[in-house]
Amino acid sequence: MTSQKTHFVLFSCFTMAGAYFGAGCGSSTLEAPAGSGGSAGEVIDAGGESDAQQVDDAGPPIVDDDFPLPLTGGLAPTPPMGWNSWNAYHCSVTAALVMRTADVMVAAGLAEAGYQYINIDDCWAQTDRAADGSIQVAPNFPNGIKPVADYVHSKGFKLGIYSDRGTQTCGGRAGSQDHEEQDAQTYASWGVDYLKYDNCSALLDKQTQYQKMRDALHAATAATGRPIVFSICAWAFDEWDLGTGELWRTTSDITPTWASILSNASVNRRLAAYAAPNGWNDPDMLEVGSGAMSTAEDRAHFSLWAMMAAPLIAGNDMTTLSSETREILSNKEVIAVDQDGLGIQGVPVELTSSTEVWFKPLNESGARAVLLLNRGTAAADITVHLSEIGLRASHASVRDLWAHADAGFTADDYTATVEPHDVAMVKIIGSELPAPTGSAYLSDLPWIYAASASSIVTRDYRNASTAPISINGQTYDKGLGVYAGSMILYRLGQACTRFSADVGVDVQGKSGGSVIFRVLADGEMLFDSGLVTGGTPPQSISVDVTGKRRLKLVATNGGDGSTNDYADWGNAKLDCAVGP
Ligand code: GLA
Repeated sequence: MTSQKTHFVLFSCFTMAGAYFGAGCGSSTLEAPAGSGGSAGEVIDAGGESDAQQVDDAGPPIVDDDFPLPLTGGLAPTPPMGWNSWNAYHCSVTAALVMRTADVMVAAGLAEAGYQYINIDDCWAQTDRAADGSIQVAPNFPNGIKPVADYVHSKGFKLGIYSDRGTQTCGGRAGSQDHEEQDAQTYASWGVDYLKYDNCSALLDKQTQYQKMRDALHAATAATGRPIVFSICAWAFDEWDLGTGELWRTTSDITPTWASILSNASVNRRLAAYAAPNGWNDPDMLEVGSGAMSTAEDRAHFSLWAMMAAPLIAGNDMTTLSSETREILSNKEVIAVDQDGLGIQGVPVELTSSTEVWFKPLNESGARAVLLLNRGTAAADITVHLSEIGLRASHASVRDLWAHADAGFTADDYTATVEPHDVAMVKIIGSELPAPTGSAYLSDLPWIYAASASSIVTRDYRNASTAPISINGQTYDKGLGVYAGSMILYRLGQACTRFSADVGVDVQGKSGGSVIFRVLADGEMLFDSGLVTGGTPPQSISVDVTGKRRLKLVATNGGDGSTNDYADWGNAKLDCAVGP
């Protein structure tokens, strides 16, 4: 387990190749008030009565009173949760095992914790189709799929099934190529609610085939009234995944090893900008409870997936569910982070050779989930600063999501001692950032959240560089350098009137760089650049943001993958009310 302390110390504003994170940087250490048991620069124990009395001199917390934002409609407003047969059973899956799994998940409280889908993976079908082309169920499902669907439905679950865009599945069973409509109708007639669609034995165009099955599912839904979640399993991200499926695999197959967990997380985290309600990055199913990793590693794996708003699809053998696995899989406080309605994928804000600090904005004013991960082989003190998680340096409460206990208060930072291959995961509730004042360059302001395929957003230089921002021969002293896909969120606090910038692909991306820039405020699209490439002159943006609460700057990879997608927001600037 971990131990925690609350620090009141000065902090650095620069991490990771000089990237600047958050608010409050450059301010001096906060004074701890008399009677708090601590003073500036001192370490004090968290959790005591005296901590609760600590106040700071930064004024009352700034609250965004539009939280919680309403849940989006659609089939997957939050990441799907459930169980899948593959990791535990591979081709030995049977109808009896699937039904028994449903029983255990109800009895163990997993249904109640939010697990909704029971998904049959590969090897439920025969290799050959019937004479009329219909898919034939293999003998391991002796009565077919419908009775299994009926059974899991009777237990309150939904049923998922598996197929493949090619001629055969990865396990050598019939794939859906040229049978998309027929199969989609068959699934709907059985009562299937979810389709995982794989990428083996595939010779034809990937996008065409996935979208053909999407359309076939929509047609089956229109005919039967049964919605079917579409889970793309093409082992890598493509931008057309958005709008094609509700979730998409971003990685190769997971294995129950610490290295595989870290590797899949590291691929998946670079795509954070793309995750949103009804479109989730899927770093693959859970290996929690496989028995191959330690309890701490399982806990770290589950926490990372929750921070990444990943689908939580358990993959363990439920018939041998241990109390440790049950406790991890049913941690409602961690699940709430995954299922948070804001739908923002958490990102790392500090990466060292052996430790990581991640955060995820939540659908509650001033609320952030924070993960402190120790990848190393010795226990480590890991610290998160409020300035790194888009909060003002002011009174904030800390709750430990694994200890299920309040962990004190801080006006500055929070440190946990984390064991090797383990995590501390907390929820911090503090004050939102103050609204910008006057005319301000975005690179001089703290952001709420920033995601970039390179992991960092760079202030006043090309992404991850100290070379100037330069678009088609024009250079800029100020601005933001990102690597697409990227998403940056700023708090406007209804105090600003105009956002302006010159956007384009940086000279570094002259060869092959292609990006689409978008500006949104409170969900409203204010600007769309269309496709911009390395040779395109800068486009000037000037949009009205009067009355808006939050500004979102998006740079997509232009649909052709993330090659040389250095994208610049030159002179990005806000005009806001002059402060008090
Ligand atoms: C692929 C997928 C896995 C699993 C197997 C089944 O490898 O990536 O998740 O579905 O096929 O054969």
